Amino acid sequence: MDIGIDQIGFYTPNKFVDMVDLANARNQDPNKFLIGIGQDRMAVADKTQDAVSMGINATAEYLDQVDLEKLGLLIFATESGIDQSKSASLFVKEALNLPAQIRTFEIKEACFALTASLQVARDYVRAHPHHSAMIIGSDIARYGLSTPGEVTQGAGAISMLIKEDPAIIALEDGHTSHSENINDFWRPNNLATAVVDGHYSRDVYLDFFKSTFKPFLEEKQLAVADFAGICYHLPYTKMGYKAHKIAIEGQDDETVKRLSDNFQLSAKYSRQVGNIYTASLYMSVLSLLENGELEAGDRVGFFSYGSGAMAEFFSGRVVEGYQKRLRPALHARMLRERIRLGIGQYEEIFTEGLQALPENVEFTSDANHGTWYLAGQEGYVRQYKQK
Ligand code: COA
Repeated sequence: MDIGIDQIGFYTPNKFVDMVDLANARNQDPNKFLIGIGQDRMAVADKTQDAVSMGINATAEYLDQVDLEKLGLLIFATESGIDQSKSASLFVKEALNLPAQIRTFEIKEACFALTASLQVARDYVRAHPHHSAMIIGSDIARYGLSTPGEVTQGAGAISMLIKEDPAIIALEDGHTSHSENINDFWRPNNLATAVVDGHYSRDVYLDFFKSTFKPFLEEKQLAVADFAGICYHLPYTKMGYKAHKIAIEGQDDETVKRLSDNFQLSAKYSRQVGNIYTASLYMSVLSLLENGELEAGDRVGFFSYGSGAMAEFFSGRVVEGYQKRLRPALHARMLRERIRLGIGQYEEIFTEGLQALPENVEFTSDANHGTWYLAGQEGYVRQYKQK
């Protein structure tokens, strides 16, 4: 029985900072950000978008095509959680009227968490044929104003439906994992921004890529040339590019060209949105599917990395007719119609986002009609509304 990705919804907020504007404001050469880091823009979430509202919006994109009677599991992966106890998924469940009978919870291991959700969902569907699972990864990456990590911020969510006979990608059996207790990136409970040693994290990411990719090829008896494309966790696109360079070492010209072209296509959305932590790998997959020309049966590699650190490599095959399930025009419009913030406006929004939510203050949203947003907090309970 094939199990895999049947739907992919994507949401990113309606505001962005241009990297040239940011470089000029920080007295940096714009090419450092555009080429050295590999980012063009970063999405900015104002106070009306949090991990929950973005997750609702990504899921609402395909909800009308879900057979709710068969939905048995909802997992929310985030490192921008809104509560230490209660799962963000319960807010999603209420907003979207999902059935009361589903099992639902939140899951965490930095940016690996959506892959953890995918593997749990796959096992669930294997154990409960004819049932489906919904998994959401949603985050706001905040490093701090004028920090080295500032250029690698972003905000957004991916929501996926996992079921048998999937319409987009059928996952292949097998995976290789690697984990170690290290401190490259984390966010202690008393901090609103991440603590990061970016150069160390880059080195660990590449080491973990080597520890999972080659063993995967050996275990599955595959060659690099057997992949149409490989998608990477992209906290910034240059990081994935470094792993890509390792993958193509010593390969023939045709394989190098195919994997390099498809790497650039997989990085297209990330260049515009920035880091969305848990969902970054899956935004790369969506970017490749919506901007590339993959054919039915093509094999795609997935490299997932979460600081702390945990990595996994696995693969899937593109399903015949997958294009019909995608919504590239919707996503192109969402990215095109965003508001370009001045650096002063961005700094104001950023600073406001670090503060505790005020009680009983109603927020209004300037997002499009139909968008879900955070409308404020009453009695320490976040209130979500649809515009
Ligand atoms: N033109 C082109 N490239 C330039 C340049 C210019 N004018 N100036 C610098 N660069 C290149 C550097 O050569 C370097 O490329 P390389 O990595 O291929 O050598 C790149 O730009 C970055 O320069 P660096 O000096 O390393 O930048 P930095 O010290 O400001 O830090 C990060 C960059 C990515 C480490 C930092 O943004 C960060 O820590 N981000 C967070 C990363 C993270 O979240 N990790 C954990 C999650 S997986």
